[in-house]
Amino acid sequence: MPPSAEGRSADGTPADGPAPLRIIQVGAGAMGRAWLHNLAESPDAVVVGLVDLDPGLARAAAADTGHGNAAVAESLDDLLGRVEADAVVNVTVPAAHRAVSERALRAGLPVLCEKPLADTVSSGLSMAAAAELTGQLLMVSQSRRYWRHLDTLSGLLDQLGEIGAVGCTFRKAPRFGGFREQMPYPLLIDMAIHQFDLARVLIHADPIAVYCDSYNPSWSWFRGDASAEAVFEFADGARFAFSGSWCAPGLETSWNGSWWISGANGTATWDGEHAPAAEDTDGHRLGAEPGSRPEQIAGSFAEFAAAVRTGETRPAGEVHSNVLSLAMVEAAIRSAEHRRRVSIAEILDDAYADAIRTETEPDLRDVLASWPFVHDVIGEHRTVSTPPGAAQ
Ligand SMILES: NC(=O)c1ccc[n+]([C@@H]2O[C@H](COP(=O)([O-])OP(=O)(O)OC[C@H]3O[C@@H](n4cnc5c(N)ncnc54)[C@H](O)[C@@H]3O)[C@@H](O)[C@H]2O)c1
Repeated sequence: MPPSAEGRSADGTPADGPAPLRIIQVGAGAMGRAWLHNLAESPDAVVVGLVDLDPGLARAAAADTGHGNAAVAESLDDLLGRVEADAVVNVTVPAAHRAVSERALRAGLPVLCEKPLADTVSSGLSMAAAAELTGQLLMVSQSRRYWRHLDTLSGLLDQLGEIGAVGCTFRKAPRFGGFREQMPYPLLIDMAIHQFDLARVLIHADPIAVYCDSYNPSWSWFRGDASAEAVFEFADGARFAFSGSWCAPGLETSWNGSWWISGANGTATWDGEHAPAAEDTDGHRLGAEPGSRPEQIAGSFAEFAAAVRTGETRPAGEVHSNVLSLAMVEAAIRSAEHRRRVSIAEILDDAYADAIRTETEPDLRDVLASWPFVHDVIGEHRTVSTPPGAAQ
């Protein structure tokens, strides 16, 4: 017997306004708990199932966050036959994002997946193929796109003319323990994806290449490199300079990082926490309407729920677009390893060849092979080629 979805009448129709989406959440770790709190507060969600490899952890997390009625299981497969759901929220570790998301998509459920989409661009391409094959939405929760001050900043940038350079300094000193302290390139893979993705939002163009230096300070408590310096080139000629560290105690920046943006008609700055500022060529302070959207994961979930309800196929973070942010990470890592400029095109070409070679599911390989050119399929403003017969 599936748990009841509050807000629905007995026949499943909305009692008042649109029915909340019945959510199965997979992953009940640290971020999983944040998601459970978020979903408890959302009028758009009711958690009907919670999955974790450790079901005791899941049971405790469900009880602590007001989801005591949710069914609990060790795997998504265990729950799919028992619980009726409208969507899956995937908050597992990055290495599990692909398997969990593809399983949900094949079960006919749209997925909101935590960042990073996957541990490789090649896997990300297969996930995009799975979304096309099933006709279901796969969206990545890039939660740092959802900040009211960022919306204000965008309003300021509209007044600065052409954007020539964007900089972000990121300095934190977190002691996470767990997977981040064991992974290679923890800063680039698990954190810088946020700032790289934000640079795309601010510059409004596609990244085309990067030089990156990655290193581990002698006092680092991470096994992989906790610090990096990277300069990206964008298609419109703009540069994005990122300077980051997860081993920088004292005078830390915000979690969004500290930003400056240089335009033809002036400059803007944002400390990632408070209202941004901007000044034009004549030294006049500029103003912009403050943003009002829900923030962070509440914002990404609201966008996801609206897209599921309306059938919008390309919300922010949609898998095809998000692959480009992941490609920025992989390009930065390759640049650091080979000590040379690496183009995004090189990363996409190699990942596409790898995806076709390694994909073990024939139907997904067919979708990948049907893409006319990987660069036409991936990115913010590209055309998605849908294979014949796909429901999308
Ligand atoms: N948006 C943000 O600001 C933000 C912040 C923190 C974490 N995250 C992301 O959230 C995700 C989870 O991070 P976390 O800190 O909660 O990690 P975590 O290690 O605390 O929790 C992950 C949980 O997933 C479970 N899990 C792993 N594989 C699974 C599978 N196949 N099926 C079911 N459960 C599985 C583990 O048992 C664990 O309980 C990561 O992708 C991370 O990058 C995002």
